[in-house]
Amino acid sequence: MLNYDDFFSLRSSRVKSSIIRELLKLGNQPGIISLGGGLPDPALFPIKEFQECMNEALNEENGPISLQYGETPGYQPLKESLIEISKKDGITNIDMDNLLVTTASQQGISLLSQVFLEDGDIVITEKPTYLSAIQSFKTFGATFECVSIDQEGASVEELEEILIRLKKEGKRIKFFYTIPTFQNPGGVCMSLERRKKVIALAKEYGFVIVEDNPYGDLRYKGDDLPCLKSLDTTNEYVVYLRTFSKILAPGNRLGWIVGPKAIIAKVSLSKQAVDLCSPVIIQMATDIYLRKGYLWPHIEEIRKSYSIKCQAMLDAVAKYFPADTKILPPDGGMFLWCSFPEYIDTQAIFTTAVEKYQVAYIPGSAFFPDGTGQNTARLNFTKPSIEQIDEGIKRLGAFIKEEIAKHG
Ligand SMILES: Cc1ncc(COP(=O)(O)O)c(C=O)c1O
Repeated sequence: MLNYDDFFSLRSSRVKSSIIRELLKLGNQPGIISLGGGLPDPALFPIKEFQECMNEALNEENGPISLQYGETPGYQPLKESLIEISKKDGITNIDMDNLLVTTASQQGISLLSQVFLEDGDIVITEKPTYLSAIQSFKTFGATFECVSIDQEGASVEELEEILIRLKKEGKRIKFFYTIPTFQNPGGVCMSLERRKKVIALAKEYGFVIVEDNPYGDLRYKGDDLPCLKSLDTTNEYVVYLRTFSKILAPGNRLGWIVGPKAIIAKVSLSKQAVDLCSPVIIQMATDIYLRKGYLWPHIEEIRKSYSIKCQAMLDAVAKYFPADTKILPPDGGMFLWCSFPEYIDTQAIFTTAVEKYQVAYIPGSAFFPDGTGQNTARLNFTKPSIEQIDEGIKRLGAFIKEEIAKHG
């Protein structure tokens, strides 16, 4: 019998099964209200419209193209449509060589990790940040420096302090990974002033910014803010990740990267070795969907629905949660971030929440590269119904109050 452990790479051993994914399986049992996952509402998927587009992608004229291998950087007509979306994002100084289609953003994150990271390389992230980005950066050997977030997004003061300290130590960072718009898990938006400062720091200290923007279109309140990429007028510093997962359907597995040509070319080479190309049939059907003008009315529809759910969660939290719960009220996105009193360990009490109170959430420490954040939790308001949101928050509030009472 072979001992496979003697064969597995060091890199593969860095990928640990996430305790969160295990915990979430518990939360998916019948009868449990899950505020845990990060899923869009499947009732809003544009099934009929997408079916029409898939049929068209499979008609006599298109079928021979959509079922064939495609070019690694992406199906040309879709790339043209994505350049148009980029213009809507305020990014005007790009052409086709600045853009690459990915098998959704997670592939973008993984390819950038491959292209940039060597063992021990320093990556700066927000704290908390997107769990699977932490996983990807760790797999490729990153060490982490972190900046905290508040209602105005990542702390640029902390970012600058880290950059100054590392410079003194003769070290440099590979990139700053940020989710400036409706952060996952924090829900907050980086202010315009901070956005400008981040760009200025990238210029001063010479580093790449990886801007991940899956939630930017899901705004329920306030005015749009320019993405970092659009503020990077030289098109030198920001690599911008986008995805259809939250605005169309995650099952599409389709996203794109906009960035400097040299980086896109490098990422394209890596992608070739990973999957040759993203599924052409999905690229073509999505392009047809875009050209029929279906996307923006659909986004309007999901914004309306999610905005009501977001408010329902905020109302329920005000009604049922202990008074000393701190929240970061979001103006968009999919999540509400909560901090309970320091002594509440949301991971340690998770099983009781599920078994006794039949409610699930994500313990916040999973989102901290340094393992802190034990007293925090991420709550999702897009997947559960309004009734489930109210009942779920009621259960969670009662549970946390009970835990606080135990503490004395
Ligand atoms: C911040 C962030 N980036 C990337 C992703 C990955 O999304 P996808 O690969 O479906 O595009 C997610 C998914 O939840 C996310 O929250």
